[in-house]
Formats: sequence, C-alpha cells, structure tokens
Amino acid sequence: MADQQREYSKRFPDANGYYGQFGGNHYPSDVWPALEELASSYHALRDLPEFLDALETARIGLQGRPTPVHFLKNITDEIGGARIYVKREDLNHTGAHKINHCVGFALLAKKMGKRRLIAETGAGQHGVALASAAAFFGLECEIHMGAIDIEKQSSNVGRMRLLGAHVVAASAGQSALKEASDSAFSAFVEQREHALFAIGSAIGPHPFPMIVRDFQSVVGREARQQFLSLAAAALPDHVVACVAGGSNAIGIYSGFLDDAGVALHAVEPRGTSDELGQHAATLSFGSPGTLHGAQSLVLQHEDGSPAPVSSIASGLVYPGIGPEIAMLHQEGRLHVTTVSDEEVIRTFFRIAKSEGIIPALESAHALAFAIQLAKRRPSSECILVNLSGRGDKDVDYILANYGTEGQRVVD
Ligand SMILES: Cc1ncc(COP(=O)(O)O)c(C=O)c1O
Repeated sequence: MADQQREYSKRFPDANGYYGQFGGNHYPSDVWPALEELASSYHALRDLPEFLDALETARIGLQGRPTPVHFLKNITDEIGGARIYVKREDLNHTGAHKINHCVGFALLAKKMGKRRLIAETGAGQHGVALASAAAFFGLECEIHMGAIDIEKQSSNVGRMRLLGAHVVAASAGQSALKEASDSAFSAFVEQREHALFAIGSAIGPHPFPMIVRDFQSVVGREARQQFLSLAAAALPDHVVACVAGGSNAIGIYSGFLDDAGVALHAVEPRGTSDELGQHAATLSFGSPGTLHGAQSLVLQHEDGSPAPVSSIASGLVYPGIGPEIAMLHQEGRLHVTTVSDEEVIRTFFRIAKSEGIIPALESAHALAFAIQLAKRRPSSECILVNLSGRGDKDVDYILANYGTEGQRVVD
C-alpha cells in the first residue's frame, strides 16, 4: 500500500467505526457478534503475505488488473478545454469496479471457513461480480435484487444464474436497491453461522465501509501511479466519480485524499427533477439519519423514513450514502454536483460515438459532469474520471427507449 494511502486509512474509521459523526454500528445487538467476527478476521488476515498473494493472483488472473488510465482525445479535442482521462474500471472482468471488493470478500469468506456469500445488487453489476468471485473461490452465492431491477437488468440476472448464483427477488416498497439491501441483510442475519455478507458498496455498519474502501483503494493506488508516469509527471487537477453508496468514489479518491491540490468531485443523480422522490442525490439534498445500520446522510421524510428515489441508472437508486463520503462532504473536501437523466443519456451516446466506449449509465453521470467541467477549465488542466463500469447491461434498455442515435435527447 502506498504510504500516502496508509496514512489516510490509519486515521479513519476510529476505534468505534466512526468517520467523524457518521458510521458506527446501529443494528440490534444480536447482529454484533457476526460483525465483530468479520472485523477481527479482517484485521488478522489483511496484511498476511499469503492473503495478499491470493488477492493479487485473483486481481491479475480473474479480474484483469491493472486497468489502464486512458486519454479521451476525441472528446477533449472537440471541447478544447481541460484534458479528460478515464480510469478504465469498465475493463474489469464482469464489467465494473464492484469486483474489486467482491474478490476480497470471497477470499475473506474462504479464510473464515464460510461456505456462502450473500449480497444485494442494484444494476446487477455487484451481483454478477460476486457470483464470479464465488465460483472462482468455490463458494455458494445468494443475490437479492429488487423485482423492478430484475426486469430492467435481465441480462445481468441471466449472467448471475449462469455463474451458479441463486437470485432472490425483493418486492417490498419500491422493489429497488434499498429493499434488496434490507432483504439481503436479513438473510445474512439468519445464516450468519455459515455465510458472509459481501455488501455492494461502502455502506452499512462497521466494518463494511472500511473493508470495501480498502479493497476498492486499488483503483486510486493504480491511478495515482499511472498518472504520475504520464509525460507531465503530475497529479490530475480534478478527480471525478459518480456516487450512490460511494464504493467507486472512495476507491479512486483514496489515492488523492491528502493531495490538497487535487479537487475531488462527487456526481449525484438528479433524475428528472430536484423534487424529493424524483432524484437520488443524497449529499445534495439529504440530512443526518440512520440507514442500514450506520449513521450517515439520508434522503428521508420528516418522520425519518427513507424517501423514494429515482434515477435512470439502477445502480444509483439508493436513498443513503457511505459514512466516509458523508464525512468528506461535511469537511468540505468534496465538490458535489448533480446531473439529470437527460444529460446522462446525451453523454452515453456521445462517449459511444466519439470514443468507442459504451459507458454504464452510472458512469455516464461522472462523464457528463467531466465534459461540463472541461468546457470551463483551461487545456493545461487534467480531469481524471472513474469510468466505473461498461454499459453492456444498459444497451437493451437504451435501444428500446432511445434507438441507436438517441434521437429523443441528442441535439
Ligand atoms: C457501474 C457502476 N458504477 C457506479 C455504481 C454506484 O455504486 P457505488 O457508489 O458504490 O460506486 C454502480 C452500482 O451498481 C455501478 O454498477
């Protein structure tokens, strides 16, 4: 681990799993033993050479790491402003950054003597990644997914089943990511003797946000070194990531958190409007509350119940945010912005046609903002975007609703 990252991860979380006022463990006491078992196993294993070697083997052979940093030359030339680079997490096996922490959790489960991995998924990227990691390490896999997402992301559901996972439909409430998380966590509590919960993002009670961050930090670590080895041998001026729970964001930010000269941008889904229920922009519009066992920022009704949320990107439809991202926001370390569904669709087509890359709708949020930023900044500045996933999972939906040219939205 690079010194700069070790410094930061030593400071947070504190001994009780807090990031400033956010985080902790707010689940009932019957869950504590399972969380304590996970925390102590993780601390005992994480620096062992045999654990790190097995992780590295999976990262190289199964995942295809390291992923490159790539210059979006065509878009940059079209804009004529700051230069846009992408960290190609879309090139990971199974198509997104999620596999960075899935292989970590699968290896942990194996070493802890558990036989099953349980998780929730939104867009299906986490589910497919976990199913693949489970198969690789010889573990069973149970994925909980909102009934609406099962319909929208049918190709990912097929992939999970093909990889041997059992898919459980969550049909309460909005039948989306929050309900899938509720359902998966209850399944974990019931099966904790033989199962490990491999949470989908840097959310939930301690120690999940810390473990996800540590496994995702490979993105920031690689990106920092790769950027420094480019011709200018300098750090990027801006690092941009889309945010739901915050796993891809904290992954790339972790390489640059102590570099005051690097502006960190968090891009949230504005959906169809700023009205509660029409977006999923928790940093922008949320308030302190408790969700999925942690204190954080939450989009909520006055009585504290989570509000409905909406975005064209299933993986961003979540009414909360990871506690570490909430703390960074409160400390003023993040520049927070929102992007609408319509801007996302426009960007999806633009990146596909100009750069030959079909981005995930989630990642298209970050790219849309990067394009806006590049227009305002001089060509001497560099923007690094976490291209968190590829859009193959979104193609059927896009073709059915917008055709091949995006006529309804493209100018
Ligand atoms: C490609 C991609 N990017 C981003 C996200 C958002 O999750 P997170 O905020 O944990 O990175 C998802 C979630 O499914 C995703 O599939």
